[in-house]
Amino acid sequence: MREIPMTVVVNGEKHELTVPAWETLIECLRDRLGLLGVKKSCDVQVCGACTVLLDDRPVSACTVLAFEARGKSLRTIEGLARGDELHPVQEAFVEHGALQCGFCTPGMIMATVALLGENPRPTADEVKHYMRGNICRCTGYKRILEAILDASRRMSGGAKGNGGAKGNDGAKGNDGAKGNGGTKGTDGR
Ligand code: FES
Ligand code: FES
Repeated sequence: MREIPMTVVVNGEKHELTVPAWETLIECLRDRLGLLGVKKSCDVQVCGACTVLLDDRPVSACTVLAFEARGKSLRTIEGLARGDELHPVQEAFVEHGALQCGFCTPGMIMATVALLGENPRPTADEVKHYMRGNICRCTGYKRILEAILDASRRMSGGAKGNGGAKGNDGAKGNDGAKGNGGTKGTDGR
């Protein structure tokens, strides 16, 4: 068994680990570090449920090997809130009811944080494109789109609200750094 020593900073905390060469990042985060907010669904980089930020770029933790995070910084859903204070993206998802079962939500939120880091004021079409790699089985995408646009306004100093997203029926997008564009991307339901 090839074991690889690594140092990684996860949600601001430094970890010294030794991982098998074939261990995936999602196994490392969930089974080794107990970060169960990282969800495993398709396991083949199709659904986006496992999205985490690796040096601020979104990756699918199901198809990244743990040792590839060596020397890097990881952020998971557990690292967003400050104590009792939710991250503005989390607040917006809650206030817009942008979830039902919530299984897709951690990945959606992490992808949104990455999107707004790259593009603080995206258009609705830019949001749909970026989020294409994150699939939700149960809400439809309208509320998710509204939440993302509202989070953008909040984080840019604008007022809270839910305008600007009416009439959009799809929010799939996201073919960015996760490299999974093109395998899906219908315009919602
Ligand atoms: S579980 Fe990783 S993309 Fe679906
Ligand atoms: S809220 Fe259930 S899969 Fe998205």
